[in-house]
Amino acid sequence: MHGTVFTLLKRYVQTQYDHSTWVRLLEVANLSAVDFDHKNVYPDEHMYALVGHAAEMTGLSADQLHEKFGEYLVPDLMYMYQRLVQPEWKTLDMIEHTENTMHRQVRSEHLENAPPVLEVSRVSPTELYIDYMSKRRMGALAVGIVRGLATYFDEADQIVVEPTTSENGERVRIWVRQIPSQC
Ligand code: HEM
Repeated sequence: MHGTVFTLLKRYVQTQYDHSTWVRLLEVANLSAVDFDHKNVYPDEHMYALVGHAAEMTGLSADQLHEKFGEYLVPDLMYMYQRLVQPEWKTLDMIEHTENTMHRQVRSEHLENAPPVLEVSRVSPTELYIDYMSKRRMGALAVGIVRGLATYFDEADQIVVEPTTSENGERVRIWVRQIPSQC
């Protein structure tokens, strides 16, 4: 997986917990010798080991941790690829266009990059389904990213995100809809 995801996981652990937690996490995952940087691609197994042990250390489930980490990732991902984002896009538009813009760009940058396939069906202006497909089984990260996008676009009180299948299969269906603002 893309080194950026690892460097952001490191920053997430350092800011939500502290630096010594990150060092301890590397030790228990047997990865103390690895120095993650954004220019390289690392084995997926490293990510599973880090998230699995981080979940144990924090008392969260791996799905909950993936969701929280997905939310945290969004501002940095948006910043890195902002040139591909149209100014009029909001949460649902971003989701609808990720496959053909951001994830397409990621795939073209490195042969080993393999973001998930996201098949998006926009059922109406206020509702869509995401069919997530990836051998990595990180649907919970996708759920977190959608929540993070809603926060990023100031729509957190209007966007409802509901996985309609188990979050950790190779195929995950996520229902996203926009409801009128509460205020
Ligand atoms: C600003 C928009 C986005 C950018 C720049 C972006 C970028 C990336 C990058 C760089 C990776 C790592 C790929 C690899 O290592 O091979 C990735 C993976 C991933 N992306 Fe995105 N992404 C964006 C939006 C989304 C959205 C909207 C979703 C879901 C609704 C999503 C779901 C995921 C998931 C779950 C992964 C983990 C890998 C996997 O499950 O196979 N991304 N993305």
